[in-house]
Amino acid sequence: MIYIKTPQEIALIREGGKILARILEELGNAVEPGMKTIELDKLAERLVFKYGAIAAFKNYKPCFNHEGQGGYPASVCVSINEEVVHGIPGNRVLREGDIVSLDMGVLYKGYFTDAAITVGAGKISPIARKLIDVTKKSLELAIGETKIGNHLGDIGWAAQSYAEKNGFSVVRDLVGHGVGKFIHEEPDIPNFGRPGAGLELKEGMVLAFEPMVNAGDYKVKTFADGWTFVTVDKSLSAHFEHTVAITKNGVEVLTRL
Ligand code: MF3
Ligand code: CO
Repeated sequence: MIYIKTPQEIALIREGGKILARILEELGNAVEPGMKTIELDKLAERLVFKYGAIAAFKNYKPCFNHEGQGGYPASVCVSINEEVVHGIPGNRVLREGDIVSLDMGVLYKGYFTDAAITVGAGKISPIARKLIDVTKKSLELAIGETKIGNHLGDIGWAAQSYAEKNGFSVVRDLVGHGVGKFIHEEPDIPNFGRPGAGLELKEGMVLAFEPMVNAGDYKVKTFADGWTFVTVDKSLSAHFEHTVAITKNGVEVLTRL
């Protein structure tokens, strides 16, 4: 079931989106070699409290494979280098040249928003820089295809074709999603597809696009901690995500300042 949002609901989601954008900007600026990733989680918790929001991922428990276990143990997912998403902050120390994906969701006034960025710690390699830039542009191209009457396949194709043209691959096993009263709503939004295929976009849809782009092969697997996804070939991976709304005036990126 796809929940169509009213302009009043989108106004509330916009408020939460701005808060999330601010938090992610501050987290991105805080990344530096020598720090522990748990410091990023502590900063995330301070910021989410300061803005009067709630961290959406803390204790989150997807029903598909984490039954019987505790939920996700942190407020921000920190995924380093070959880690794709859902890395758990801890005592690992960031090193010069690491690329760090920060993925966070907040709940504000009854609605969720979800966004992610990837940044470098200190000076990063040219290939890492290119991977980050291409992933960010893949997301922007996907957003550019977001208009009433277009299809999910147009969005997926925009992200996939740009990443592949640059010699990279898009992750297939993890997808974007609708977002609203729940962090994950229908539909699933693959970051690959065929133009014109899939669900038609309608006014009032609020969607999270989140291309994950690998420098090598698209295959991923979960790491021993049960949460962290890593690339099978250990190649670098980057992730960008925005929550967007489809309005009668066009697409609006809700998680941008
Ligand atoms: N950020 C993920 C998404 O975009 C959700 C992470 S849930 C967690 O769908 F619990 F694993 F953090
Ligand atoms: Co998401």
